[in-house]
Amino acid sequence: MQTMWRPICHRSGERRQQRNRGVPLTELDHPQIAAIAERWGTPFYLFHPGRFRKNIRDFSAAMRRHYEPFILGYSYKTNYLPAATLAVKQEGGYAEVVSRLEYELALRLGYSPERIIFNGPLKRRADLEMALDGGAIVNLDSMTEIEFLCDWLLRHPEARPAVGLRININLTGADGSSRIQDGLKTGRFGFAGENLERAIDTLSSHGVEVVSLHGHSSSSDRSVENFRTICGTLCAVRERYSLNRLRYLNVGGGFFGRVPRELIGRDVPTFDEYAAAIAELLLADGWVAANRPFLVAEPGVSVVADSMSFYTAIHSRKNVAGTRNFVTVDGSVFNVKPTMHRYNMLFRHIAARPPGGSGIVCDVVGSTCMEKDIILQDVVLPDPQPGDYIEIKGAGAYTIVMTPPFINLAPAIVGPDGNGGFRLLRAPQSVDHLLEGYNLEASPT
Ligand SMILES: Cc1ncc(COP(=O)(O)O)c(C=O)c1O
Repeated sequence: MQTMWRPICHRSGERRQQRNRGVPLTELDHPQIAAIAERWGTPFYLFHPGRFRKNIRDFSAAMRRHYEPFILGYSYKTNYLPAATLAVKQEGGYAEVVSRLEYELALRLGYSPERIIFNGPLKRRADLEMALDGGAIVNLDSMTEIEFLCDWLLRHPEARPAVGLRININLTGADGSSRIQDGLKTGRFGFAGENLERAIDTLSSHGVEVVSLHGHSSSSDRSVENFRTICGTLCAVRERYSLNRLRYLNVGGGFFGRVPRELIGRDVPTFDEYAAAIAELLLADGWVAANRPFLVAEPGVSVVADSMSFYTAIHSRKNVAGTRNFVTVDGSVFNVKPTMHRYNMLFRHIAARPPGGSGIVCDVVGSTCMEKDIILQDVVLPDPQPGDYIEIKGAGAYTIVMTPPFINLAPAIVGPDGNGGFRLLRAPQSVDHLLEGYNLEASPT
């Protein structure tokens, strides 16, 4: 059972302080929320730009303390709010994209193609050609993409393209169990074994240099050990195939950010701990130590999760069959954890007036018609009433990018205006947005 979250007290030692040192987050009071709600409705997201920028800086500084040169490629898919992606650009970061949509988004936001890292399992022929023409850093994922590249070379015989390869990482722990997301035995991304050999042979016979090895692996535990495995594998591939023109060793994303202990019941590695382990592995390799290719990391959740809060209004409260209390809010689980993980996120209850009754144990449930739309489970709220609000903290990763207009429209995103007020960063979706693109003239057949 979880009661209302309070800010963390920084008294339990230096290490704990280091883990949680961030920019204090704005916590809206009831009149502030009501004022925003009047203009743009509820629910809404609140972006914390100071926290986001600090995360980007802290992550980069930790890596650079242990290894240089370093490139941060921000994972667009995690949250492509322009206010965030533009901040990354200002901080000197690159855009890490995995689709044509994200590639074009990065271009529209002013990234030059050389500062775009193009990953992902589905680069269509035209997508790949656009990236090659522009000079982006492309990490190829399949033989199909290599065939597209070879076809492109026939039309550009003078070109000397340089590409990367995604390497399939065997993330098996010491106990023999898989660390890949959901315990899957084999990850589906990248090249390994014979396929890798064939890929490298084909590229080399076409005069294509491999300048990047990419080892992102979505793990279940985000452990430091995984990054040791990734670095070890990338170094072994470089050595085995004498890839001596390598410019980028890319470990991908999959780091923990500042996750308070009360959220998952344990401490998680700090940015510095990840960086130290990665650098130790890389610098133990004589070629890497002598040639110093760029270390690239692609953080997503670790830098953006705690940069957004979600505010939702309580609509009703009921007790069912004398056994269970439900508090229904106007947001849904899709707004805060579309992956429906089992953790209760950190939250605050903002009452319209001092709570009169006693606290109740309840589930905070969302606005859709799904039983599974449970935002918080078994939490204690002091006398929740319609008109109160709930803030869900840490709602910045894989939320706005994964919210379909399912039953309700996508909500507004607001941020500070620099004068103590708030401004719109994304308008709430309307029925007009929803119907855009549909042919309303077509008669049913
Ligand atoms: C290629 C690649 N890079 C980076 C990331 C970001 O991962 P995370 O949000 O776990 O840091 C992902 C996420 O799946 C990814 O597929």
